[in-house]
Amino acid sequence: MKGVVLSGGFGTRLRPLTHTGPKQLIPIANKPMLFYAIEDLRDAGVKDVAIILGTIAPEKVQESVGNGSALGVDVKYITQGEPRGIAHAVKCAKKFVGDEPFVVYLGDNILKGGIGKFAKKFEESKSDASILLCRHKNPERFGVAEVKGGRIVGLVEKPKKPKSDLVMIGVYFFRKTIFKAIDNLKPSWRNEYEITEAVDYLVRNGYDVKYETVSGWWKDTGKPEDIIEANHLVLEDLPVKNEGVIEDEGSIRGRVSIGKGTIVRKGCFIKGPVVIGRNCNISFGAYVGPYTSIGDGCVLKQVEVESSIVMEGSRVECVGRIVDSLIGANNVIVSGSKEVPKAIRLVVGENTYLSI
Ligand code: TTP
Repeated sequence: MKGVVLSGGFGTRLRPLTHTGPKQLIPIANKPMLFYAIEDLRDAGVKDVAIILGTIAPEKVQESVGNGSALGVDVKYITQGEPRGIAHAVKCAKKFVGDEPFVVYLGDNILKGGIGKFAKKFEESKSDASILLCRHKNPERFGVAEVKGGRIVGLVEKPKKPKSDLVMIGVYFFRKTIFKAIDNLKPSWRNEYEITEAVDYLVRNGYDVKYETVSGWWKDTGKPEDIIEANHLVLEDLPVKNEGVIEDEGSIRGRVSIGKGTIVRKGCFIKGPVVIGRNCNISFGAYVGPYTSIGDGCVLKQVEVESSIVMEGSRVECVGRIVDSLIGANNVIVSGSKEVPKAIRLVVGENTYLSI
């Protein structure tokens, strides 16, 4: 079975972070989210992976994934360019998949339980497609499946009145019949070729479409709050590791992972789950609270950070409390006023100077 990972799209809901790079490279617990999809494919025994590239700094994806050998897969790149819908992105991989069954994985989805058992079942079947469904309290934001007697009877993308709470998650198993369905699509009201409509075409034309229900957590990381929640979920299972220098062991509580070359000065406090990358400097009474990820080469002074992601190379030296925030790479955030703010919530792109 081959794998197709989608890394295109505009990621408009994550601007300004997606002005300078694709959302699939935003780190969750200090690992680009795209890597979770690739590792899941690898663990399911998929060796050949194509990554579909969009228009936002696609070279950054190529730089970080390379030929895939570091992740244990063989990666090829296919350019989709402007996003014309998930079905269009899948069609771009037609030549790559040839006659083999394949799995499409949206590069901004994280699935805790992995796809291993679903992949095996699909490969052993002769089904044309198998989709993964998950119960969701806001089904109208997704593709919704209507299921009767254990069979899918219809699928609608973002329906105003959903017929169920079963939404399609961003992992789809296909055989080459899906390309026939895609060829029959017309652009939707939002001018995209919808994968939901392609699968619905298969259902309505008598092809064999199965479904599986996912019970563990699954996260589609379209919005800043989704990224912060995904960071929470991944950090729940964080292994404890310390490769840095901690001046006072008493300043660390809970599950904390600290990378090589990082210094945590006396007088700081870290309360896990927290991951801190390499070569960071945590000093002058900084506090890093639960569910926070600090990327490589960051400097934190005085500030209190909690439930946030601070990306590599950023310097945060301010009095105050930053919560539920996404701070891009290489930013400088300093105190501009003597007033102590209670708490601030930020989504900051890259290379910004902020005085707060
Ligand atoms: P979406 O989240 O639907 O779209 P988006 O990433 O452009 O974000 P926004 O709606 O905020 O603008 O995309 C789901 C996944 O599919 C995501 O990983 C991007 C990818 N994708 C493509 O690769 N090509 C496409 O044409 C589209 C629409 C999405």
